[in-house]
Amino acid sequence: MSRLVVVSNRIADPRKTAAGGLAVALAEVLNGTGGLWFGWSGKIVDATEGDDVHFMQAGPVKLATVDLSQVDHDDFYLGYSNGVLWPVFHYRLDLADFDAGYIAGYRRVNQLFARKLMPLLQPDDVIWVHDYHLIPLAAELRALGCQQRIGFFLHIPLPPPLIVAAIPGHDWLIRALFAYDLVGFQSQADLAHFAGYVESEAHAQPLGDGRWRAFGRTVHAGAFPIGIDVEEFTQLTQAPEAMEMYERMKREYSRRRLLVGVDRLDYSKGLPQRMRAFREFLQKNPDLRSSATLIQIASPSREDVEAYSDLLHELESLCGSINGNFGELDWMPVRYIHRTVARARLPGLFRASQVALVTPLRDGMNLVAKEYLTAQDEEDPGVLVLSRFAGAAEQLREALLVNPYDTEGTAAAILLALQMPLEERRLRHQAMMKTIRQYDVHWWCDSFLNALQEAQAEEKGTSWL
Ligand code: ADP
Ligand code: F6P
Repeated sequence: MSRLVVVSNRIADPRKTAAGGLAVALAEVLNGTGGLWFGWSGKIVDATEGDDVHFMQAGPVKLATVDLSQVDHDDFYLGYSNGVLWPVFHYRLDLADFDAGYIAGYRRVNQLFARKLMPLLQPDDVIWVHDYHLIPLAAELRALGCQQRIGFFLHIPLPPPLIVAAIPGHDWLIRALFAYDLVGFQSQADLAHFAGYVESEAHAQPLGDGRWRAFGRTVHAGAFPIGIDVEEFTQLTQAPEAMEMYERMKREYSRRRLLVGVDRLDYSKGLPQRMRAFREFLQKNPDLRSSATLIQIASPSREDVEAYSDLLHELESLCGSINGNFGELDWMPVRYIHRTVARARLPGLFRASQVALVTPLRDGMNLVAKEYLTAQDEEDPGVLVLSRFAGAAEQLREALLVNPYDTEGTAAAILLALQMPLEERRLRHQAMMKTIRQYDVHWWCDSFLNALQEAQAEEKGTSWL
């Protein structure tokens, strides 16, 4: 059997907690398959310190990591990945910083990854590259003579062609995708945007069966919505740490109902919009005021990018003003926690909450939505309020779907969620759990790797960049 080689910028020790869908999902996959996980060590070092690969065995997974120099980190990670690709792919052209210097850093780090990974590869390896940081990696590997099968999965949305086209050098970026054998997206909408882009901007020929031909090469593309490890999360829900959390929350909020939000502190997650909707709900429903509390956990993320520090201040000020205006001596409407919570405790918090607010302005998938539902008591489940702009909304049709920009509409959905009769809650929960179980993280991994196995490898010698 082939060895699986996973490559991503962010990697995590599969035995520890991580915030971020990619690290959580890949840790679960690799724990089962074993293999090599190559990526950034998370360390920034002086440029003179060299670029050795560090190795660590973590259960069945061998981790191989490289450090980044300060300038590479600034241009590649903060600059091009999180200052250009992240905002544009989340439809936020207004937040993009198209500094011409960033692209060189992006190419430099992709070349570094290719150079360092190449000697670690075995002839039968299957290589699976993840996310927007590493779009040109296959092209760089091919330029070094890599013949192995290479797949790419984009964890974040792909916006419509004319939004992609706003990126200076967008044609180079999308051309680089043709060095892969298979390109995977989270949703049918993202796949349609890919088809739209390559057909209109790159004059690619659709060959049917999810194949497109351009630049003398055929690429396969498909939608592979990522899922969670339902069994693992169910066990986590029943474990002592989660149970203790559940009991504690139930005791503390015995007379009140809990709403919960758990996100990285990211502008794509719609946190200020969510707070405004909750404020609107409090304003419109004075009789329900002191019976509902929103716990919002927002883990720190990319704090060196300006848009993120602006968001932190906006959110803090909104939470402060809601508590100041609506709070009572014995009740605060919002409990805001700016930290990563231990993964083992999350299911307890989810289970104790009658409503989850998962209301991103854009999201590739959103695993929190699936984790919340999995943690529920199926006899008395809570209600998921879900943004129609999360990839998860393509699958979880029985959630209360909202437009997160619509403050009044979202406030109305919060009320509906709190008042939903038991029978309706059960029916909706049952239907969504069927989908979550069927399309779990193992389905995601197997269906992607099977499709990669079947993808015909052609013209691998071509020079791409
Ligand atoms: P993203 O990949 O954009 O961060 P997802 O919802 O897909 O969003 O994945 C987030 C993952 O990280 C989930 O598994 C979630 O449980 C975890 N997570 C997010 N925020 C926190 C937090 N504050 N504390 C602990 N875990 C978190
Ligand atoms: O899942 C989306 C994602 O952007 C991953 O690519 C990333 O690893 C994660 O969220 C967290 O972001 P970061 O790696 O910048 O901390």
